[in-house]
Amino acid sequence: MNSSTNEKYAPLFRPLTLPNGTVLGDRLGMTPMTTFAGSPDGVLTDEEIAHYRRRNNIGQLAITGAVAVSPHGRLGDVQFVAYEEQDGPVLAGLTRLAEALRARGNKAILQLQHGGREAHLAEVPFGPSDKHFPWHERPTTGLSEEGIADVVREFGDATRTAIKAGFDGVEIHGANHYLLQQFFSTYSNERDDEWGGDLAGRMRFALEVVREVRRVVAESGRADFLVGYRISPEEVHGETVGYTVDESLELIDAIVEAGVDYVHTSLGGGFRATAQGDDHPDPVNQRVRDRIAGRVAFVVSGEVWTPDDAVEALTYGDVVTLGRAALIEPDWSHKVLDGREAEIRRSTGREQDPDIQVPVRMWDKFLEPNSYLPPLPLSE
Ligand SMILES: Cc1cc2nc3c(=O)[nH]c(=O)nc-3n(C[C@H](O)[C@H](O)[C@H](O)COP(=O)(O)O)c2cc1C
Repeated sequence: MNSSTNEKYAPLFRPLTLPNGTVLGDRLGMTPMTTFAGSPDGVLTDEEIAHYRRRNNIGQLAITGAVAVSPHGRLGDVQFVAYEEQDGPVLAGLTRLAEALRARGNKAILQLQHGGREAHLAEVPFGPSDKHFPWHERPTTGLSEEGIADVVREFGDATRTAIKAGFDGVEIHGANHYLLQQFFSTYSNERDDEWGGDLAGRMRFALEVVREVRRVVAESGRADFLVGYRISPEEVHGETVGYTVDESLELIDAIVEAGVDYVHTSLGGGFRATAQGDDHPDPVNQRVRDRIAGRVAFVVSGEVWTPDDAVEALTYGDVVTLGRAALIEPDWSHKVLDGREAEIRRSTGREQDPDIQVPVRMWDKFLEPNSYLPPLPLSE
């Protein structure tokens, strides 16, 4: 710490030892954020690499935007990919990305995703069950047993690719309504075989993915390689509850038992949010923290803008990740360390300051009418 005035922010810069012995030099990181700026063949672009390089001093847990593990899991032709068969340029791009993020001793974490029914490029959008969702033109097709086994294997293949590319870990994307969450949700999963039905059945796909990723990591001999899991702790669609926080706590228990190094929550209402689907008075992150009970690290995120927010978020989690704050202020952590927190940008004009190097298509995505992204804090 450079400044005694910043002693109150010292908790943000304390090291943390993860369950596998890996040490993070601070309690900060970047949330996974899709850049919408990839090339149609799924290879990372220079603009994306520059964006990540510019943000490699936010914190030690440097997580990438979601990367598709399978061609039929890809969200759109702007998402970079990690399919093994495209090993040449895909691997070269991922290697540059890992190198850009790892500067300063960060842990570079590749977020692995299958979009399920939200994969707009898929010839056939897959999910747990045959179902027509009102917001999609095309119906979703339920995966066969063989299809499920393929996707589980693809998460393992992408983990192998991440290891080859020099990443320090992967984060399994089990949040935000994509395939893993779709299997856990009674709203999306109407199967009556062992991949659906009761809680154990709906948890099975997520657990198989964690076990496969763990198996590949063990095979690699990389005991230091991190495995994280991101979860949306509840799913509520108006009157319909896909799953409750209490059910998520059961899944979290099982995932921790299956061997992750950290759990990362994604809460639409921000890190202080309480549940929508039950009347429990405590913040969801407090309930998750109490269930994890220190067995693995807990990463929290959402609506963290100031260093005071971040210190408060650490009352729930061991690490706090910044999303939009890291976009509009890539020097966030430097400014806190230097006692210049008053200079942290809290809002932005519609035109981005070229110094912050956000990919143009990512910036434009925020400004689209009815954008589904959480909004940028615009000053005008
Ligand atoms: C542009 C953008 C892209 C995102 N892409 C992902 C993603 O790839 N994976 C993911 O888990 N969450 C994604 N999110 C959600 C963020 O990780 C984070 O949970 C959300 O922005 C709330 O954090 P914030 O308030 O700090 O921005 C994205 C958010 C934004 C704004």
